[in-house]
Amino acid sequence: MNKQFLDDVNAGLSANQKYLYSKYFYDQAGDALFVKIMNAPEYYLTNAEHNIFKNQTAELIKAFDVKNKPFELIELGAGDGTKTLELLKYLQGNFEFTYLPIDISENALTKLKNRLNREVPEVNVITQQGEYFQVLNKLKAINETKIILFLGSNLGNMLDENARKFIKQLADAMNANDKLLIGVDLIKSAEIVLPAYNDKAGYTRDFNLNLLKRINKEFGADFNVVNFKHTPEYIEEEGIARSFLTSVVNQQVHIKAINKTFQFNKGERIHMEISRKYNDAILSNIFKDTGLKQTMVFKDAKNYFADYLFEKQDEL
Ligand code: AVI
Repeated sequence: MNKQFLDDVNAGLSANQKYLYSKYFYDQAGDALFVKIMNAPEYYLTNAEHNIFKNQTAELIKAFDVKNKPFELIELGAGDGTKTLELLKYLQGNFEFTYLPIDISENALTKLKNRLNREVPEVNVITQQGEYFQVLNKLKAINETKIILFLGSNLGNMLDENARKFIKQLADAMNANDKLLIGVDLIKSAEIVLPAYNDKAGYTRDFNLNLLKRINKEFGADFNVVNFKHTPEYIEEEGIARSFLTSVVNQQVHIKAINKTFQFNKGERIHMEISRKYNDAILSNIFKDTGLKQTMVFKDAKNYFADYLFEKQDEL
């Protein structure tokens, strides 16, 4: 049993404003639903970032500045690897490197490894399972040049202050020639953003509800998912999308593993996830005093998404 997960569920459902952490979305069923979301027509993020990787591959690799230098290509939250595959195809055979994908989901890593063995067999792939913060320490031990990828607007699932702490730790693990490429979704109108978190096929709804099912399965809870409605919001002025599950009836849910019953009033919400969107000012505020400086930015043809390249600031 995952004790940390159970403690987090207990704390989240005991809080005044109930919450669950979105990092727990990714069990096997959650991984499969996330792949469906990424392929849903409303979820523009995937195509937008893929557009950058497909059309600006040579420029990206040139900016990494790794010609004739062995390096480690490290990806945090690798997922299914579609975007990175564009880089790997270009790098394969021409550059001396190892690809180190890191993900919280063992299942996603196994699938990724199989896919890469088929599609880019010459690339040396070493997978690592873990949460970002755990893995950061291991990064410090790598002496070769590191190109760190943090794509897909994964940063947006953190509150700004956590994002800043995370970037600071990343920066501390980087040396002079290392680079960080960070992909973020840009602030745009609700007409575009909200449907991405409320797709017609209902994959995002199921993705959220799946966490309740996971709690049922792993901790003997009795959530009845038909009693919860997926109610996402997006406030353009702040650039934050939030997902909630709203209780449609007065109900009680029991969790066997802690022998505790939780009351949900009709209309009460569980906050499930934030998906922050960015602009230059928000991003530079997060990077302020982290010791990293932005050197380049790559955008897709529609200006929906941006990949920012950072490196260590010169020591004073
Ligand atoms: C992984 N992450 C960047 C996704 C996002 O857009 O916030 C997770 C997601 N949640 C609902 N749809 C996709």
